[in-house]
Amino acid sequence: MEDKIFAMRDEALAQVAAARTAADLEAVRIQYLGRKGLLPEIMKGLRDVPAEQRAGVGQAANQFKEALSEGLREKQETLASGSCQAAGPAFDPTLPGRVIPRGSRHPVSLVIEEAVRIFAKLGFTVAEGPDLETGYRNFDALNTPDYHPSLSEQDTFWIEPDLLLRTQTSPVQIRVMEQTQPPIRIITPGRCYRRDTTDATHSANFHQIEGLYVDKSVSLADLKGTLAHFARQMMGPDVHVRFRPHFFPFTEPSVECDFSCHVCGGKGCRVCKQSGWIEIAGAGMVDPRVFGKVGYDAEKYTGYAFGMGIERIAMIKYGIPDIRMLYENDLRFLGQFR
Ligand code: PHE
Repeated sequence: MEDKIFAMRDEALAQVAAARTAADLEAVRIQYLGRKGLLPEIMKGLRDVPAEQRAGVGQAANQFKEALSEGLREKQETLASGSCQAAGPAFDPTLPGRVIPRGSRHPVSLVIEEAVRIFAKLGFTVAEGPDLETGYRNFDALNTPDYHPSLSEQDTFWIEPDLLLRTQTSPVQIRVMEQTQPPIRIITPGRCYRRDTTDATHSANFHQIEGLYVDKSVSLADLKGTLAHFARQMMGPDVHVRFRPHFFPFTEPSVECDFSCHVCGGKGCRVCKQSGWIEIAGAGMVDPRVFGKVGYDAEKYTGYAFGMGIERIAMIKYGIPDIRMLYENDLRFLGQFR
């Protein structure tokens, strides 16, 4: 009799182990412990068991009941905690994974990263300055007189009498030279602001990369060589670079640097306004008066500086016909740059 009870207990515990859902488990409980279940039946039957066996059988039945109750409780916890897959449909390792939509770098960021990489190999390190700049560093220290048209309210976002949204990254030159002695070799990528009317190639908010190299006997040839090298690294070996004489208050002599249009290969198109060239950078030899402002000895040191438009580079590098596409954040457009 006891053996039969133990066999029944083992069978019941096996059913508990095999249960996959709470409902399975409940069915096992009802089968053995329910009002009409097998255990109450055994208890009822105890009356008919010969007196000398009764204690042993009773004990076996109690032991069965305890073991089963404990088993049910444990299994219930496991199912509830979800720590086994049994509660849901079985895990299918052959199903394809869920595709997580992946973002992409913005073309402006891509060009900045690439430029930093190219200049880093030439020994340039990155310096940064604030978007909100003093009039002194954005203009005066750069030898730009008060009557210069770029100071006008039509061209510059003035915030306070001596505070403005920088119109160029050139004030970072001043910040670095105020704090460091030559030799200096830095680039500074950053945002600039001008009261420009937006069109296909102009935006009131754009980005520049400024470069500054100051040491003994830096020459205009160094500047040309560096910008030409940069152009080839950034655009590929076919790009042509040309320099035109220009004027900036803070460089003397000054040049403007054009890259051949990558979109049409120099034949003329909408992006280059049919000229085959795109103006990419202003540059020149640092004016001795700027060195004077930061306390450098202009007899001892020379330097070159340049400021490049990042959006312009992105446009010819990726064939983007309108600068506004860079700011509309249309994911169908941005998703193409991976
Ligand atoms: N800051 C000038 C501009 O925004 C570019 C420039 C930088 C020119 C450095 C010369 C030297 O147009």
